[in-house]
Amino acid sequence: MEKAMRDFFLFLSKNRGMTKLAKRYGLRFGAKRFVAGETIDFAAEAIKDLNDQGLAVTIDYLGEFVDNEKEANEMADNCLIAIEEIGKRGLNSQLSLKLTSMGLDLNENVVMNNMRRILDKAQEHNVFITIDMEDYERCGKTIEIFKKLKREYDNIGTVIQAYLYRTEQDIRELNEYQPNLRLVKGAYKESPDVAFLEKKNVDENYKNIIRMHLENGNYTAIATHDDAIIEYTKQLVKEYNIPYNQFEFQMLFGIRNERQLELAAEGYKMRVYVPYGTDWYGYFMRRLAERPANVAFVLKGMFK
Ligand code: FDA
Repeated sequence: MEKAMRDFFLFLSKNRGMTKLAKRYGLRFGAKRFVAGETIDFAAEAIKDLNDQGLAVTIDYLGEFVDNEKEANEMADNCLIAIEEIGKRGLNSQLSLKLTSMGLDLNENVVMNNMRRILDKAQEHNVFITIDMEDYERCGKTIEIFKKLKREYDNIGTVIQAYLYRTEQDIRELNEYQPNLRLVKGAYKESPDVAFLEKKNVDENYKNIIRMHLENGNYTAIATHDDAIIEYTKQLVKEYNIPYNQFEFQMLFGIRNERQLELAAEGYKMRVYVPYGTDWYGYFMRRLAERPANVAFVLKGMFK
C-alpha cells in the first residue's frame, strides 16, 4: 500500500499540467508547511528566523520543466537575486539548484553560462552552491558538469544518492576532487536496473558511503530525517575522531523541526533546506511520496 502511494505521488510530481496550474493558484493544500513562500522576501524572513535559532540554511528557488533558454536564464537570474539578498541581509545561507532549471536538457552552453554567472556572483558574496541531484537519466551528466565547474570554482558541491548502484564508484572517482558532498537516500522513482528499491539496502549503502567519504577526509553533509542514520554518523565520527567541522546534518524545511534544534543544541552543525517560489507542485508531491502520512496535511489544507 505504502509503495503504491509513493509511486502515485511520484507519478503526480511529473505532471506538467498540474505544475502549470499550481503556479497560477499559489501555495495550496498544505504546501506552506514545506515551502517558505512564493517570494525571496518570505524566504529571507524564514532564513532569518532559522538563523536566529542557531540553524544554517541552504535556499532553493523552485523550478521544474524548464523548456527553453529564456526560462533557464530567468531561473538563473532569480538565483542571482537570492545570492545578493543573502549577502545584503547577512544571512547564514548557501544556495541549492537543479541543473535542469539552468538548461541541462537544452544544451551544455546554456547550463555552463548560467552556472558560471551564479558561481561568480556567489564568490562575490561568499555563498556556497550545491547542485541537487535529479533522476538517474541526468545523474551522469550532472556529475560531469560538477567536475568541470569544480576545476574552476571552490564554492561548489553536489549531491550523491545512496539508492543508486553506481554511487559507491562515484564516491571513489570523485575523491580526487576532494568534494563537499551532500549524501541523501534519493527521492525519484527509479528502476531496479539502476537502484536499490528496498529500504534495508538503501540504508546499508547510505552508511557505506557516509563512512567512505568521511574516511577520505572530505566534507560531508548527511541529509536525512532518519534517526538510525544520524545515530550511525554520531558513532562513526566518535570512533574515527572526525572533527565536527568536517561534517554537518541537513534536513528539509518543515520536517522534524524539533530534531533539527536538538542536533544544533548538541553542538552539531545543522542546515535546513528552504525552498521558495511559485513552482512548488513537484517538490511538494515528492515530499508526500516520501511519507504518505503527510497526506493528512493535504486534506486539512484543502479546507483552509
Ligand atoms: P526516510 O525516508 O527513510 O525517513 C526516515 C524518517 O524520517 C521517517 O520515518 C520519518 O520519521 C521522517 N521523514 C522522512 N521524510 C519525511 C517527510 N516528508 N515528512 C515527515 N517526516 C519525514 N533527494 C534527491 O534525490 N536529490 C537531492 O538533491 C536531494 N536533496 C536533499 C536535500 C536535503 C537537505 C534533504 C534532507 C533531502 C534531500 N533529498 C534529495 C531527499 C532525500 O533523497 C530523501 O528522499 C528524503 O530525505 C527522505 O529520506 P530520509 O533520509 O529522510 O529517510
